[in-house]
Amino acid sequence: MAGIEQQLSQAYTPLTIGPLTVRNRFIKSATNEGMAPNGVPSRQLVQFHAGMAAGGVGLNTLAYCAVSAKGCTLPSQICLDRATLPHLRALTEAVHAENGAISAQITHGGCFTFTKTPGQGRPISASGGFNKIGLMSGQYLKRAMSVSDMRQVAADFAAGAELAREAGFDAVEIHMGHGYLLSQFISPLYNKRRDEYGGSLANRMRFPRQVLRQVLDAVGDELAVICKFSITEGTRGGNSIEDGVGIARELEAEGAHLLVLSAGMNAESITTMFGSSFPPENRAVVTNPVMKAAMFLQSLTEKPVEFRELYLLEHARKVRAAVDVPLAYLGGVTSAAGVGQLMAEGFDTVAVGRALIHDPAWVSRLREGNIQRSGCTACNRCVTMMYTDGGTSCVLGRPGDAVLNHTPAAG
Ligand SMILES: Cc1cc2nc3c(=O)[nH]c(=O)nc-3n(C[C@H](O)[C@H](O)[C@H](O)COP(=O)(O)O)c2cc1C
Ligand code: SF4
Repeated sequence: MAGIEQQLSQAYTPLTIGPLTVRNRFIKSATNEGMAPNGVPSRQLVQFHAGMAAGGVGLNTLAYCAVSAKGCTLPSQICLDRATLPHLRALTEAVHAENGAISAQITHGGCFTFTKTPGQGRPISASGGFNKIGLMSGQYLKRAMSVSDMRQVAADFAAGAELAREAGFDAVEIHMGHGYLLSQFISPLYNKRRDEYGGSLANRMRFPRQVLRQVLDAVGDELAVICKFSITEGTRGGNSIEDGVGIARELEAEGAHLLVLSAGMNAESITTMFGSSFPPENRAVVTNPVMKAAMFLQSLTEKPVEFRELYLLEHARKVRAAVDVPLAYLGGVTSAAGVGQLMAEGFDTVAVGRALIHDPAWVSRLREGNIQRSGCTACNRCVTMMYTDGGTSCVLGRPGDAVLNHTPAAG
């Protein structure tokens, strides 16, 4: 068996993802930056990503870009439209100047939305009826998508990917997890349809596969097309790991270039996603009353969870054993030994969230042997920092610069 150093060194070799080759096996996973006030990407956002590229990350991920205004979950979310293009270009240029690559996470919130535009009507989802997410924003009912809605949204995903290409992104990551629109189709908790888009897993995957196909046809020759999904939803009545393996097989069959293996749902099982509890004090940081109420409701149903390094590994191994498509392990990557182990177990790349929020130079420091593990305590306080003026940051470090965060990235 190779030593840890040898296993770790594998993580610093290039990786080919579809048409893209990245310099190493470290992906900065999407972590909503809170750095686009009123939807305008800020200089702080550019600095955040350029800093991580300078710190050695191979592929950054810009979190949470809506493919249309109707697809926004939060008011200060980036929307992939022409007005945003120059700001996104400033971001990709800054990352490329540090020899990094950057992916845009593309998403539609469906009924998981806290925004409401006049005349928009009910938020869409796989199925209609009562919308528990809408309790916080007064949108109590959701509407089941028609086939023509699906055609429109799939076209929006393709157009969003094309805009990302024009802005200089190297990859797009289609968000199929955590309870957003595509995950609402995949999850039996949300999908109660009786047509060919509901019922069996193959049927529930039909629309997400159509979206993936359209994005691949639009940009797949030039950009890496990545899918992030929940390998287990971690809640009663939701998808299990056996379903997660089936989802991976479906996405592989459709031609995804890389799968990012996340877990959990925002509303039902947030601790499955993060592998650790959320402190009640987190609510004190949030000024938005809707988000505050949402967090309070969530805290009522959560059981305490103690953080464990590589907390999704047992599940992720099952996916690794079932498919050949390149896989990114995600969840509690915090040490040199952990990264080495993941390489030895056949994962192609590692996706890292909190360890990089804690220390943007973590990838270089591990390589140089200056540190063996991250100082991140998995306290999850950075999750609420995204709603503060300076944007997402680690509470153990310096908060983001509010002035820079209100200065548009371009111009
Ligand atoms: C502040 C913060 C914001 C996040 N926002 C997103 C997001 O916008 N999209 C997403 O897919 N995941 C998001 N996540 C989840 C991370 O991508 C990742 O799945 C999670 O942090 C577990 O990985 P880690 O143990 O390496 O931190 C967020 C995580 C954090 C800490
Ligand atoms: S606030 Fe800092 S220490 Fe806490 S989870 Fe986030 S990155 Fe880690």
